[in-house]
Amino acid sequence: MAIVNMRQMLQEAKAGRYAVGAFNILDYNSMRAVVDAAAELKAPVIIQTSVKTVVFWGYEPIIQWYRQLADAVSVPVAIHLDHCKDLDVIRQCIAHGWTSVMIDASSKPFEENLTLTQQAAEMATPKDITVEAEMGAIVGVEDDIHVREQDAHLADPDEAQRFCEAVSLDCFAPAIGTAHGVYKGEPVIAFDRIETIARRTGLPLALHGGTGLSDEVFRRCIALGCAKVNISTQLKYAHIDGFVDYHTGHSTQYDPLKVLAAQYERLREGIARDIQLFGSAGKV
Ligand code: 13P
Repeated sequence: MAIVNMRQMLQEAKAGRYAVGAFNILDYNSMRAVVDAAAELKAPVIIQTSVKTVVFWGYEPIIQWYRQLADAVSVPVAIHLDHCKDLDVIRQCIAHGWTSVMIDASSKPFEENLTLTQQAAEMATPKDITVEAEMGAIVGVEDDIHVREQDAHLADPDEAQRFCEAVSLDCFAPAIGTAHGVYKGEPVIAFDRIETIARRTGLPLALHGGTGLSDEVFRRCIALGCAKVNISTQLKYAHIDGFVDYHTGHSTQYDPLKVLAAQYERLREGIARDIQLFGSAGKV
């Protein structure tokens, strides 16, 4: 039960007008914090791995952590490869047991984005691996993919519909004004596009750039059709601040397990807050 792809959890979230949190993990401690928070709150959840994290640890350790943690709980837990431009990495993740993948060819022209997305879907769909694709350019840095503000552009609803009719997807990530990383000012969200694209594609939408959005923005985006919310930067901060703050307060202690416990707690608290805010608590 616990090891699943994203399909059913996102369909249910879309129908129920709540969102499933997709959290970019960094290591075993952060993956454990995601799974424990979801299990405690009886929420479906998505463990997300950036390509950088996969390269750092290797496929096998990550999938072993996932199997061990997800097997031990009764809530559905998917493992999803975030923003991947490389079909070989997607192939490897599928071979190693990832249950979901994102192909990000959004920097390419429409036809090329579509062709690469179709190739990813041809690898994934027969194995019951779910697929997310992106359109438009989401500003900021995610996994060493830099998009400058002047290069950002929103997804066009006509193109989004045409794209999603031409390839079988489980989740669609249109650029709608959010950004990866820390927001410098108030983001301008194209709420009307979320509603139009959700209606015209019929797909659960992914809201990228979750860190730093206000509760009100989350609620509106989710109500309009965002059924998956991506959170990465928040975990990076909690990972480092949880560690540093504990060590600063106990500078002579040098007990790594206590530091890691504090880091885990900081991560878990933030993730639990998000799950409650997104409305997925108690849905299992
Ligand atoms: P943040 O780093 O802004 O939370 O964005 C996460 C994201 O969208 C990952 O794909």
